[in-house]
Amino acid sequence: MFSEFEIVPATPDMVEDILALEEACFSSPWTRKILEGELTGNQFAHFLVAMRHEQSKTKTEPTIIGYHCFWIVFEELRLMNLAVQASMRRRGIGWALVTEAFRLGLEQSATRAVLEVRASNEPARILYTRMGFAQISRRPHYYTNPTEDAVLMEMNPLMISSGR
Ligand SMILES: CC(C)(COP(=O)(O)OP(=O)(O)OC[C@H]1O[C@@H](n2cnc3c(N)ncnc32)[C@H](O)[C@@H]1OP(=O)(O)O)[C@@H](O)C(=O)NCCC(=O)NCCS
Repeated sequence: MFSEFEIVPATPDMVEDILALEEACFSSPWTRKILEGELTGNQFAHFLVAMRHEQSKTKTEPTIIGYHCFWIVFEELRLMNLAVQASMRRRGIGWALVTEAFRLGLEQSATRAVLEVRASNEPARILYTRMGFAQISRRPHYYTNPTEDAVLMEMNPLMISSGR
């Protein structure tokens, strides 16, 4: 398994790199203002990044290859945004980011997890289903650019599934 990455809390100085990843991964990306709000101005928000340490001849360069923003609101863990650099997908990074969110949620006494996902987003829906989420409802025309239904998924009780 690919394991040359580490998951660490994001810091405000990472906003530029996270914004670039966000814009590369979503048709309606979060703006810098939203990202900054989640990174610094929201008491419920948690932000993780997956870092890869690339070795050159002289030094080791850390690169952000994925991130996950989630909220812990009392008993509820709410997955807000998750993205992995296209060239780094299918290596367990998305799974690792969400698993770390579960771990932090459980540590803070969250008992269930919820999320919304575009109906057409097969990779994300498969990932979440494999991790233990089930569809609970659908919101018609929830997303724009393009207009699309949201699928609401829940895991109750929240638990960490064994390896992917
Ligand atoms: C969804 C996303 C975060 C998944 O990240 P990832 O690092 O590639 O996911 P993982 O490698 O951890 O995948 C774990 C499992 O999820 C499933 N999965 C992930 N991507 C899949 C795909 N393209 N097709 C089928 N199954 C997929 C597989 O079961 C996979 O396990 P396997 O590789 O052993 O078969 C990534 O595709 C992404 O950034 N997409 C664009 C942004 C996005 O849609 N975010 C989600 C918004 S709700």
